[in-house]
Amino acid sequence: MSLKDELIQDRLPNHVAIIMDGNGRWAKQRGNSRMFGHKHGVTAVREVTEAAAELNIKYLTLYAFSTENWSRPKTEVDALMSLLVSTISSETGTLMKNNVRLNAIGCKETLPRGVQAKLEDCIKKTSENTGLTLTLALSYSSRWEIIEAFKGVAKRVKNNELSIDDIDADLVSSYMATAGIPDPELMIRTSGEQRISNFLLWQLAYSELYFCNILWPDFRRDDFYRALLDFQGRERRFGKTGDQIKK
Ligand code: IPE
Ligand code: IPE
Ligand code: MG
Repeated sequence: MSLKDELIQDRLPNHVAIIMDGNGRWAKQRGNSRMFGHKHGVTAVREVTEAAAELNIKYLTLYAFSTENWSRPKTEVDALMSLLVSTISSETGTLMKNNVRLNAIGCKETLPRGVQAKLEDCIKKTSENTGLTLTLALSYSSRWEIIEAFKGVAKRVKNNELSIDDIDADLVSSYMATAGIPDPELMIRTSGEQRISNFLLWQLAYSELYFCNILWPDFRRDDFYRALLDFQGRERRFGKTGDQIKK
């Protein structure tokens, strides 16, 4: 039986978020430049996107470039931005073929104009697709997002459009960049690092976390299925006792 066949269809997560990490180390192991790793990371993105679409998973969110990543050497940042433009161009066909809708979260104004334009173009082209929603977190950090949410709520309170007592978890969620998207049930991080790195801090409150040692350019469908199988073996208690869950 293949790993895919072992999955229980009605216990798949609706939303999987991934911190795609380890491109630089993958390239270094091969005596190559870090960009070599980023380029090979695109194959893993394609495989996971196709696998998620096939499984009818509704949302896949990929951490592609963090606010903190702007501090990397300018040559790497520039090359990553160019890679983004060429990848969005070359992968639009794959997205269409798989009925995938592209979405982006992050401080888009900080991205180069060329990236913004390509992104908008692909988001528009894929907007009628009804399968998987693929969200790219670009120039994204959770603290940035939370600060933006605070500002949005504070403005409405100041203008008397909202009372302080109206502020609840649903309202806060609606001010996040992921508004309208359910919280991820599963968060995967590759490369062996076990940290969140400013990713979806609000949304990951009750997500199952899965860390694996595979470097992102080596991550394939079967690795994705393995993470999903691991998820299906977990007992999600949400504060209750194990006995309450089994009832
Ligand atoms: C993840 O791989 C991709 C980005 C953060 C853009 P890294 O570039 O962080 O690779 P490592 O962690 O240095 O190996
Ligand atoms: C997190 O990876 C950001 C992305 C995958 C885009 P990093 O490699 O930047 O994370 P840290 O700094 O090692 O935690
Ligand atoms: Mg890294």
